[in-house]
Amino acid sequence: MSGSPFKRVGVVGAGAMGRGIVQLYAQAGCDTVLFDTQPAAVTAALDSLRDTFGKLAEKGRMTPEGAAAAMARITPVDALQGFADCDLVIEAIIERLDVKRDLFMLLESIVAPDAVLVSNTSSLSITAIAAACNRPERIAGYHFFNPVPLMKVVEVVRGARTAQDPIDRLVALARMAGHAPVVCQDTPGFIVNHAGRAFGPESLKALHEGVADVPTIDRILREQVDFRGAAFKLGPFELMDLTGLDVSHPVMESIYHQYYEEARYRPSVIGAQRVSAGLFGRKTREGFYRYEAGVQQSPVEPPAPAATPGTPVWIAPGEARAALCALVEALGGRVDDGAVAAPDSIILVAPLGLDATTASIGLDARRVVAIDTLFPFAARACKRRTIMFTPATTPQVRATAHGLFAADGARVSLLNDSAGFIAQRVVAMIVCIAGEIAQQRVASPADIDTAVRLGLGYPMGPLAMGDHLGPRRVVQVLEGMLAVTGDPRYRPGLWLSRRAKLGLSLLQGDDGVAP
Ligand SMILES: NC(=O)c1ccc[n+]([C@@H]2O[C@H](COP(=O)([O-])OP(=O)(O)OC[C@H]3O[C@@H](n4cnc5c(N)ncnc54)[C@H](O)[C@@H]3O)[C@@H](O)[C@H]2O)c1
Repeated sequence: MSGSPFKRVGVVGAGAMGRGIVQLYAQAGCDTVLFDTQPAAVTAALDSLRDTFGKLAEKGRMTPEGAAAAMARITPVDALQGFADCDLVIEAIIERLDVKRDLFMLLESIVAPDAVLVSNTSSLSITAIAAACNRPERIAGYHFFNPVPLMKVVEVVRGARTAQDPIDRLVALARMAGHAPVVCQDTPGFIVNHAGRAFGPESLKALHEGVADVPTIDRILREQVDFRGAAFKLGPFELMDLTGLDVSHPVMESIYHQYYEEARYRPSVIGAQRVSAGLFGRKTREGFYRYEAGVQQSPVEPPAPAATPGTPVWIAPGEARAALCALVEALGGRVDDGAVAAPDSIILVAPLGLDATTASIGLDARRVVAIDTLFPFAARACKRRTIMFTPATTPQVRATAHGLFAADGARVSLLNDSAGFIAQRVVAMIVCIAGEIAQQRVASPADIDTAVRLGLGYPMGPLAMGDHLGPRRVVQVLEGMLAVTGDPRYRPGLWLSRRAKLGLSLLQGDDGVAP
């Protein structure tokens, strides 16, 4: 194609990723060449691509001539020699370092000296793949996501010895095909799989601590979280069931070990146990949920008890107190304005990062109810509220509070005591880890946000999430969790702390130039 930074694109491996990459570039007008050690895989890929182009033409997304031309741009070959005139070869074969290294060494002996060779690896080091090659400067990572044509982002990974020119050309090629390129350093998990180490793992940790059951945690992250009207599309356990725990648990372990047992990435023993049990998710018809005829079986949420009009509520001092007074009144409760709580009042606390127990010090813990105020909670303005209790909170206080906070029709999740509820701890960890990625210069702050938004489908980039909530509040959540648990997992990190102290955006680099 004229104007393309590469004239002929070779793809090795005709599996899920290889065929997606071929589709992307054939559709964008590039001549492509496809090879697989299994000839049947190439045949199946060509059949499936013909079918895909046919369907796109039927739906009017391509003209019939365009579909035929795209198909004609794909040349199957039965030996690696068929890549001799390719100026770019994209490897998408089995995820094994030894096999990939052998392939790259063979490719080097076939292609021109200035041809670029890239790997679509998700978890291996580009530097390690390139180490066995004569010209490591022309080797890079080109990490697409599945399904390639729909996931419109690609990580362009710079190995320790990759030159700038291949990076620039790979960026231009991605743009030409309509994908957002994000340039990153060769580090464990690159951007997206590194940034993804909070949503699932922190939810698993909360499950492991007995804070709530699987559906409760999923519902909170789908319905309580609110970033300008958007939340996570799937709960973490629904997502792990979709991906398959046999795939996601090894990624959690691998990143943890590659970062030398950094506490922030510590996976949960629950994952290992469930993998040994074969509870992978949808593909085994049982994971965190059961699946019947492909449909997730989720328990019905128990209804809230009826509200008791005039329930007296004493609200502890704090930043959310005025808004909580308005909420209690709008829900038909009565605000107890005494200097101390009257003997029959529920005691409402709104901790950031602390658990209900710590927030109840000096108060009557039997009557303490904690409410999560990090996301909108006003009457008739939220789908879900989350409340939690100290171990001493009486059943009667729990039921009365449940009824009160559901009085406007919002759903209410009840938690056992937890430093940072669920939404606070999971979102704060997402922001914290994104800050670490920025601090390590893995990629620019803007590219981190683009990669995560497009690669993980989050409602906002993680640094923008932190800005939306306020970096100081995110730090407060993490410091609270650190103080309660003593677990270094929750230390806020330098990127986040510095910007919180200075009142800067988390998208601000270290160069003094506002984003
Ligand atoms: N599936 C995903 O979601 C995903 C996402 C991003 C990256 N990746 C990475 O992309 C690569 C491919 O993944 P996939 O899901 O397409 O795998 P896949 O199993 O669907 O396909 C791999 C193909 O490679 C072929 N193959 C194996 N060894 C070969 C060799 N030496 N030479 C030529 N062909 C060979 C196999 O026959 C198979 O057809 C892996 O490195 C994986 O980590 C996968």
